[in-house]
Amino acid sequence: MRNLIILLAILCAAPVLAQPSLPILIETKNASLVLTVGSNQRLLQSYLGKKTDAASRSQLKGGREAYITAGMENQFEPAIRMVHNDGNPSLELKYVSHRSTVNGNITATDILLKDPMYPVEVTLHYLSYFNEDVIKSWTDIRHQEKKPVLMTQYASSMLHFNANEYWLTQFHGDWAREVNIVEEKLTNGIKSIESKLGTRSNFYQSPIFFLSLDQPSDENNGELIAGTLNWTGNFQFTFEIDQRNGLRLRSGINPYASEYYLPPNEMFTTPEMVITWSSQGKGQASRNLHRWARNYGVLDGKGQRMVLLNNWEATHTSFNENRLVELFDEGKKLGVDLFLLDDGWFGNAFPRDDDKNGLGDWQEDKRKLPSGIGYLVKEAEKKGIKFGIWLEPEMVNPKSELYRQHPDWILRLPNREENLGRNQLVLDLTNPKVQDFVFGIVDNMMTKYPGVAFIKWDCNRSMTNAWSPYLKDKQSHLYVEYTRSLYKVMDRIRAKYPLLPIMLCAGGGGRTDYGALKYFTEFWPSDNTDGLERIFIQWGYSYFFPANTISAHVTSMGKQQSLKFRTDVAMSGKMGYDIRVNNFTEQELRFSNEAVKTYKRISDVTWSGDLYRLVSPYQENRAVLMYVSENKSKAILFNYYTTVRRRDIFVKVKLQGLDPQKKYRFREIDLFPDTKPANPDNDKVFTGDYLMTVGLNLASGKITAMSSNVYEITEE
Ligand code: DGJ
Repeated sequence: MRNLIILLAILCAAPVLAQPSLPILIETKNASLVLTVGSNQRLLQSYLGKKTDAASRSQLKGGREAYITAGMENQFEPAIRMVHNDGNPSLELKYVSHRSTVNGNITATDILLKDPMYPVEVTLHYLSYFNEDVIKSWTDIRHQEKKPVLMTQYASSMLHFNANEYWLTQFHGDWAREVNIVEEKLTNGIKSIESKLGTRSNFYQSPIFFLSLDQPSDENNGELIAGTLNWTGNFQFTFEIDQRNGLRLRSGINPYASEYYLPPNEMFTTPEMVITWSSQGKGQASRNLHRWARNYGVLDGKGQRMVLLNNWEATHTSFNENRLVELFDEGKKLGVDLFLLDDGWFGNAFPRDDDKNGLGDWQEDKRKLPSGIGYLVKEAEKKGIKFGIWLEPEMVNPKSELYRQHPDWILRLPNREENLGRNQLVLDLTNPKVQDFVFGIVDNMMTKYPGVAFIKWDCNRSMTNAWSPYLKDKQSHLYVEYTRSLYKVMDRIRAKYPLLPIMLCAGGGGRTDYGALKYFTEFWPSDNTDGLERIFIQWGYSYFFPANTISAHVTSMGKQQSLKFRTDVAMSGKMGYDIRVNNFTEQELRFSNEAVKTYKRISDVTWSGDLYRLVSPYQENRAVLMYVSENKSKAILFNYYTTVRRRDIFVKVKLQGLDPQKKYRFREIDLFPDTKPANPDNDKVFTGDYLMTVGLNLASGKITAMSSNVYEITEE
């Protein structure tokens, strides 16, 4: 009897285990991630890949530890490293419980892990989006030690792979040459894709990648994951191949200079890691991500987007209110919905006539705009278009009143010379007063001028020599807290202005991530708007972002290209203009006017349809892509020639994504006035089967470099 009581007492004291023998199944339509619990109570990743059936799942056992800790027996990169109050630098995480909640398309799975010796708990969260084949994961870390614990690594997720070969595709660049695509075979050791830039964090490297197993993937073949981190700050993906050719992928905040002292009972929540699994190449992975983005990832992802005329490339900072009102007329002539006033409208003590002055002083320049923004909003409205405005709220020029009034609001090192980037410094957004100031820039604008219908939020430098007066002895929290503070400000903005369209911009494509796109409706991919260059840049972004988020403006850059070519290139993204319409010839104006109408008509297909990249400009001297509406009744095909050489032979292109049974009319649109379709197949009807198996010759007639066609393919 006594023994029985002791046994009962032991059983009651032990943590309740939710059937550890059961695999934990995180599933989407076509993929499974299976986690099991080992005999030592550690959580294991037993499988990740193409969906398995119940019989196979029941046979799964073993695997690699799902969220590997530092300091125990692990000898490779850990997911988490923690130093306890007593100086012990190890952590052991044992499975305690898990639960899953299904809510329509989304299943949430939370797995609680605890250290048996130290009061530390880690919860791994997974959200699986069934129809989109996307899994999002992040981690909560908490402890009840007496003093803060030190964390030197705190990944969002860790995943394991077992293949013969691993092929990594990354997207890297610089100002005006963003997202160049490089695919390489990984070898033993660590490959890291990361940013240490703080603000404008994706300036050199975008937080996106493909990892293909066994062989490089193409558009339609190969097993791979596509991954991206929802974080507008320093990120890091490490790909480590161990001595047994296993690959360990760790994703999260870059721990560089970011040791984190976590106080007791405070939750450290990592950013979310988003992956999609595809066994049909990169094309399917892109379509999964695009669908997920429109449904869940981007603010108002399925909403309308306005066609806008911006004035940056047309005027830079030299304009006055009369010139702007003239530009409204030009916008009206073009048929756009909105005029966007860019940089240069503010500053009085230090007028913003160039990028050396005025940043931080968000009052209208009385010389340029004596009647103020309100007048511009009204004038635009009179002409029947809306008005939007550029802001760069996180920054300050030393030549500004803000700099003189609040020297303690600026990130800069003591005892060192100021290190300027584009003549400016970054504000200390970790300071709640600065957060109020930044929120106030938007809020004052919208309160004073409720007619303002669009904002472009710019961020023109990364962090260097960064030191926060507010964080005092917690300098190593700066990078993390900066991004969290940005989100706090955006939360406030979105609470008050839920659907106001805001473009995310960072000196070109320096901020392009789904952490920010929860708050923004589109992003500026590059200051390079040359049509030829844009084919490649938009191609790169298209792997991860849907067309309605990729701002693409027709400008005068690339003057050697026809206006039609530049327009056709912009049309495959979120088209807008930044050009002097009054310099157009009569034909060009007629063309552009029609182009805006055409764009509006086809944009439901390009914004919400499925993208098929048919011919890559990285492989041929042309790029061909098409969008197909969800019910397959309509498709829009873009055909761009880059540099054409005599040796080029452009073979037939097989279309994709159509219904083989349906009949489609193939018709060229967006023609320049007084030109006729050169393709003999124009206006003919074909079955989907013909278009997808035999294909079309898109290169009939004389092909010249930097020329283009847009085709509408409509079910009969
Ligand atoms: C950088 C942006 O990318 C440009 O489009 C323009 O807004 C300038 N900043 C203005 O300073």
